[in-house]
Amino acid sequence: LEAELRLAREQAEIVQSTWRAVLPVGDTFAELFYGRLFALDPQLRRLFRGDMVEQGRNLTAMLSVAAANIARPEKISVALRQLGKRHASYGVERRHFATLEDALVFALEHALIDVFTAEVKAAWQAAYALLSSAMLAEITPRAPAPAP
Ligand code: HEM
Repeated sequence: LEAELRLAREQAEIVQSTWRAVLPVGDTFAELFYGRLFALDPQLRRLFRGDMVEQGRNLTAMLSVAAANIARPEKISVALRQLGKRHASYGVERRHFATLEDALVFALEHALIDVFTAEVKAAWQAAYALLSSAMLAEITPRAPAPAP
């Protein structure tokens, strides 16, 4: 992984401590997240085949992976690339990563309220950029439409 995508130790700690604060309100958090995600791009709904409980677990899994390993990304880079490959098979496209980031920031902001400072936001964005970059290495741009 690229050196500039490493998180400062303080940023890794912020991601871990704020995630611990969100976990007890995980259901509300998941509702906020998916509500925002599908409002931003209603077409994304069809990619998620499980019910809301399963979807919530995907989200929890995603953020637990992020929080636990964000300080040592080299340990999960292979797993992240495989996760990227699976996402391509789910129909996820590169542009969807920006939409998911917006929904994630929105849900964190609403779950953490006054704890969600600019510093916290920056730490999560850095963590998300790190995870995404490894996944995106396995997600090719969508083929352009054939010329008329
Ligand atoms: C940092 C970025 C992301 C991480 C770490 C992540 C993590 C995960 C994990 C752990 C799963 C469980 C299934 C598996 O392991 O293959 C999953 C499933 C899924 N993710 Fe992500 N994800 C990310 C970004 C995205 C984005 C941008 C989208 C697009 C909207 C997306 C859509 C999905 C879908 C559709 C599923 C499968 C749901 C189903 O089968 O019902 N993910 N994700």
